[in-house]
Amino acid sequence: KRVKPAVLDSLLRTSLRDAGISLDYAYGVFAEPDSALKLAQPAKYGGQLLASDLRARLFPADIFSPRHDLVLFFPSRSVFLLQQIWPQLGATIVFMVIIALSFVYTIRTIIQQQRVSVLMTDFINNMTHEFKTPISTVALAVEAILRPDVISRREKIRRYSGIIMEENGRMRKQVEKILQMAVLERGEYELHVMSVDAHEILQKAVEGIALQVEERKGTVTCSYEARSSVIKVDPMHFTNTINNLLDNANKYSPDAPRILVSTHNIDGMLVIRITDNGIGIRAEDLPKVFERFYRVPTGNVHNVKGFGLGLSYVKLLVTAMGGEVGMNSKFGEGTTAELKIPTENGERGTGN
Ligand SMILES: Nc1ncnc2c1ncn2[C@@H]1O[C@H](COP(=O)(O)OP(=O)(O)OP(=O)(O)O)[C@@H](O)[C@H]1O
Ligand SMILES: [Mg+2]
Repeated sequence: KRVKPAVLDSLLRTSLRDAGISLDYAYGVFAEPDSALKLAQPAKYGGQLLASDLRARLFPADIFSPRHDLVLFFPSRSVFLLQQIWPQLGATIVFMVIIALSFVYTIRTIIQQQRVSVLMTDFINNMTHEFKTPISTVALAVEAILRPDVISRREKIRRYSGIIMEENGRMRKQVEKILQMAVLERGEYELHVMSVDAHEILQKAVEGIALQVEERKGTVTCSYEARSSVIKVDPMHFTNTINNLLDNANKYSPDAPRILVSTHNIDGMLVIRITDNGIGIRAEDLPKVFERFYRVPTGNVHNVKGFGLGLSYVKLLVTAMGGEVGMNSKFGEGTTAELKIPTENGERGTGN
């Protein structure tokens, strides 16, 4: 030993301080040829000192005696390094999280947009289809009127004008339906809420559709079991809602529709069910039927006409009037639409 440990220590301390390093350190002396530590200070870092690559030859000029290395080890080096890079590391992590989130958001938006655009294309196809028939019918009727043999015959002109008026009315109704949906979506509507007897409105709506159903050799059965059937709704929108559901029950029952309209009370609510024995809806399509423009895909042929607006209207209005709407269906067997609307009595009941 040519240098005293205390001297070595103080030498190290000063040179480290001069180099701007204020970390705790361990040092040792490594000696050839037996490759062992002659000195380890503090002793517990012996292992790390042996493995450390911070070493320098002692007495480099002395080439005759065995080689001695001064070895250094900084126990708190990794903590120190972490402290040094922490701000950059933190910022990097934050940015990576932001980038990942925006990526997910973008992908989700694209998928949504794609869905909407598919629905829109279908809708436009449906609409074109719906308008093509009345437009060509009107054209045919006008052509007929202009024929010289017809133009002088009053009753023929009257008949063709009647057709034109009817087709025109149909187109107007369709345009109104689409426009109304846009207004409703924007929330620019007022509800004229009043107390009405749901059974009365149901009965009128049933009478309205019964003719069409009976023409197709079907039946509409009613079973009104609700004791309190007075509800607070906008009568016009409530009537439209019922008409939409009855219309669907009739439309999507290909042969001899058997439609059941029933009511009962549960927990201060009036429950109205409209059940049909039609084509039904597959479980995977069921959650989507309330979406605007959504129609269950039936391949290329759409033998049943519609815009896919009816149920989205029903959902919007029933929710706005404080009720709920749900659909239950078995593919190939039939569908049940269920409305739940708070009754006037029920509301009072909860107040007591
Ligand atoms: N009772 C039902 N039975 C079988 N499928 C139904 C029934 N009611 C609705 N659907 C399915 O849900 C879709 C959406 O219904 P919705 O009433 O919103 O639109 P639509 O009847 O196609 O058109 P619109 O009512 O605007 O004229 C329908 O296209 C149909 O595929
Ligand atoms: Mg419909």
